[in-house]
Amino acid sequence: MALPLRFDGRVVLVTGAGGGLGQAYALAFAKRGASVVVNDLGGDHRGIGKGSSAADKVVAEIRRKGGKAVANYDSVEAGEKIVKTALDAFGRIDIVVNNAGILRDRTFGRISDEDWDIIHRVHLWGSFQVTRAAWDHMKKQNFGRIIMTSSASGIYGNFGQANYSAAKLGLLGLANTLAIEGKKSNIHCNTVAPTAGSRLTQNILPVDFLETLKPDYVAPLILWLCHESCEENGGLFEVGGGWIGKLRWERTLGACVRQKNQPMTPEAVKANWQKICDFDNASKPQRIQESVGNIIGALSQIESDGGISTNDTSHAASTATSGFARAIGYKLPPFSSTYTELEAIMYALGVGASPKDPEDLKFIYEGSSDFSCLPTFGVIIAQKSIMGGGLAELPGLSINFAKVLHGEQYLELYKPLPRAGKLRCEAVVADILDKGSGLVILVDVYSYSESELMCYNQFSVFLVGSGGTGGKRTSDKVKAAVAIPNRPPDAVLTDTTSLNQAALYRLSGDWNPLHVDPDFASLAGFDKPILHGLCTFGFSARHILRQFADTDVSRFKAIKVRFAKPVYPGQTLQTEMWKEGNRIHFQTKIQETGDIVISNAYVDLVPTSGVLAKTPSEGGELQSTLIFEEIGRRLKTVGHEMVKKVSGVFEWHITKGGNIGAKWTIDLKNDSGKVYQGPAKGSADTTFILSDEDFMEVVLGKLDPQKAFFSGRLKARGNIMLSQKLQMILKEYAKL
Ligand code: NAI
Repeated sequence: MALPLRFDGRVVLVTGAGGGLGQAYALAFAKRGASVVVNDLGGDHRGIGKGSSAADKVVAEIRRKGGKAVANYDSVEAGEKIVKTALDAFGRIDIVVNNAGILRDRTFGRISDEDWDIIHRVHLWGSFQVTRAAWDHMKKQNFGRIIMTSSASGIYGNFGQANYSAAKLGLLGLANTLAIEGKKSNIHCNTVAPTAGSRLTQNILPVDFLETLKPDYVAPLILWLCHESCEENGGLFEVGGGWIGKLRWERTLGACVRQKNQPMTPEAVKANWQKICDFDNASKPQRIQESVGNIIGALSQIESDGGISTNDTSHAASTATSGFARAIGYKLPPFSSTYTELEAIMYALGVGASPKDPEDLKFIYEGSSDFSCLPTFGVIIAQKSIMGGGLAELPGLSINFAKVLHGEQYLELYKPLPRAGKLRCEAVVADILDKGSGLVILVDVYSYSESELMCYNQFSVFLVGSGGTGGKRTSDKVKAAVAIPNRPPDAVLTDTTSLNQAALYRLSGDWNPLHVDPDFASLAGFDKPILHGLCTFGFSARHILRQFADTDVSRFKAIKVRFAKPVYPGQTLQTEMWKEGNRIHFQTKIQETGDIVISNAYVDLVPTSGVLAKTPSEGGELQSTLIFEEIGRRLKTVGHEMVKKVSGVFEWHITKGGNIGAKWTIDLKNDSGKVYQGPAKGSADTTFILSDEDFMEVVLGKLDPQKAFFSGRLKARGNIMLSQKLQMILKEYAKL
């Protein structure tokens, strides 16, 4: 047998407890040990008159039965006074049951101002006054239970009760917010819509029926909701005759009827009306975030793809497995995008590359001799290809973008990304898994430069709340996350993100306002805008590249991460790394909190031997090779003289298709000069970077080196003045 629910030591205030439901509540509480304040104004059912006998009678009955009670005869409009009665008599207030009520029924056109006003004053204003007077006491003692009394008339409407319906549903709104505000102080607020025989209903309900609807059949619900062991908060219950049911909201999947940069029209609303009102697969939103979240989802969707339907996923949940099975293998529309050094640099800055780290210069300065595109830039265009609306079109799945989380990411590069180029992406839904708490869509994206496969991405997109379909939990298509070794990390690198980090990162193409707009962020339940998960991913990859690959992008093969928690701009990212052969396991923490934000992650590196193997063929197909070799031959005769005139070491980076194809050094400083392939053995005075084609144009006298410099086709570093002498050298060889 469960222990009886007792209220010993608790002080309960029941308003309107002189008769009807309130009386039943007061008696029931007192019977179970509570000290009760029996409040009743003692007027008639229309709120006219007053008297003390109603309350006194109930107090007398409680006392007669050995209980503790005091009377109060104030109107609920004087809430302070009623609560004071409780404090004076019993020293505290634990439970408030707002029950007092009257009726002024009239059809809408005949409602007088007074009829409207008094109904609102007694029901809504009165409940507000009494509850507010008790609120701070409840907060201080970290306990409180509040009941609001609504009505089916408020929930559904009822002929002749416009004033009463309005006030009664107003009480539900009040309760909803008190439930939220009180929660952290253990103050719970619930609402009941009772049906019982009383003087309020004696002229409305048939007599026989009234007999069966005793207030005693409502009171037990009130007692349970007010018990300290009851966790219910913010609930709405219909109760009567021994039956109790709970109510909640339901919302259709809805439709988004606006397109980017297009006016929204009533015609579009009309055209979508059936869909807007279709309760098939409806959701049951519970929190304001779910309301705003849906709208945020729609907004970002409109922003990213020009407008599509936005639907609630949670009930893709109830779509049968066979429904979304149709999406597996679905190919998203192909997508191409061009990028230049600008995008590569913007991305690098977005993931924390900075001039403060000299090894980062090659990612943020196009004039660097070894300018490179960060390997993780490989996710950017692939991500654009799936954010372009394709995901919203998956057959058999309707996705609510407010409930989409980026769960995991895998990226594999087949060769370093050129410093600029065009990538064509082909995306396909590789599989869909049901993790119970949500569905995981695996989207594979293959990125090509012309016909050459440059990289492969796997996005794991988590649809919160849409699982439980009984679908398979795993798949051989998954690029699995791998647990970190069980030992202290071999290396740790940290970087403090800037307050601008998310604002900067989003310029690379993820425009979700969640990362920049404080209002959006707070509506989505965050204190402030959060950093993009893929931004943290970029930071960590940079750390690994620096720590274990000498920041050499050609050593980067693949990366897998699981996103575990959000990061706020300004926090410090700490990448903990474990080397196991060519695999670097890692996890990323927020230094300030210790929270793991990327877990079970790894980077695979190309073995050093693999990189070196490529070197001998470098420069083989370049036209400039012949010129350098010829310069080398000539120097054997005129080198001595040139060294005297020039006295400089020039390093050349000859690019082909955006990548460095060869490095050459012309040494006109030491001995009698020499030319050799590769970087300067000592240090170079000046480094030139230009394409193989431009180099040929320069030596053939078709392109003036100075003009090439100012137009950006020739980049020079180091002693630029010395480069004046370059013309002299090249002129000499233009004759070739
Ligand atoms: P009732 O008329 O028997 O009890 C209401 C009590 O409130 C009365 O004793 C009355 O004197 C007192 N009261 C009225 N104005 C007051 C004020 N300004 N200050 C203090 N006390 C005041 O009615 P019943 O049926 O017990 O209703 C209780 C509550 O339940 C009311 O809020 C009513 O609107 C609500 N309700 C009742 C339903 C029913 O089927 N009985 C249906 C839906 C809602």
